[in-house]
Amino acid sequence: MRGNGAPTSARAVSANRILVLRALLSAIGFNHGSNSLQELFEHELGDIYFAEHRMVDAYEEFASNTNDQRLTDLFEEHREQVGEHIERLVQIFDTMGEPPQEEECLGIEGLLAEYDEFEGKDPDPSALDLYNVTTAGKTQRYEISAYESLVEVAKALGNEEAADLLRETIEEEQETLEQLQEQGATFDYGSIPA
Ligand SMILES: [Fe+2]
Ligand SMILES: [Fe+2]
Repeated sequence: MRGNGAPTSARAVSANRILVLRALLSAIGFNHGSNSLQELFEHELGDIYFAEHRMVDAYEEFASNTNDQRLTDLFEEHREQVGEHIERLVQIFDTMGEPPQEEECLGIEGLLAEYDEFEGKDPDPSALDLYNVTTAGKTQRYEISAYESLVEVAKALGNEEAADLLRETIEEEQETLEQLQEQGATFDYGSIPA
């Protein structure tokens, strides 16, 4: 029976043990994972640094997988911006005297794996056109969420220079998302077989 009393399930007991163990390890100076705000910031920075590198290839693929010139232009334009986003991330690592380091971003990898799966099924070209827009939009939202949270952590750490650089990137991500939404709203849905 579920209630508001003390946790008694085996899972809750083992979760408590993990918390106690973490506290003990931390007390003796063994910090594993992202325990401090600075560590969390660097972890999330490495995550988006990894994601941006994956997006260079992804936007190139979106551009080569469409016959719509407006979409090709949009994808190629954002691909160029991704290079600037990576450059800003390098600058942010620099503000902390740290070399840029990638952390595998399973979120972006998952979205791109779904794309590869769809593309691998030899879809109708118009359906693929729409899926290019859809996937690009999903990745934009992921990036915007990641960057927005990084801005807040940068501010909390007093790293205003990093916060400013991150905000510049958010503006470009947002602009691209709006252009993708516009493409989605004006898409010729009748061109896809029913
Ligand atoms: Fe980006
Ligand atoms: Fe982006």
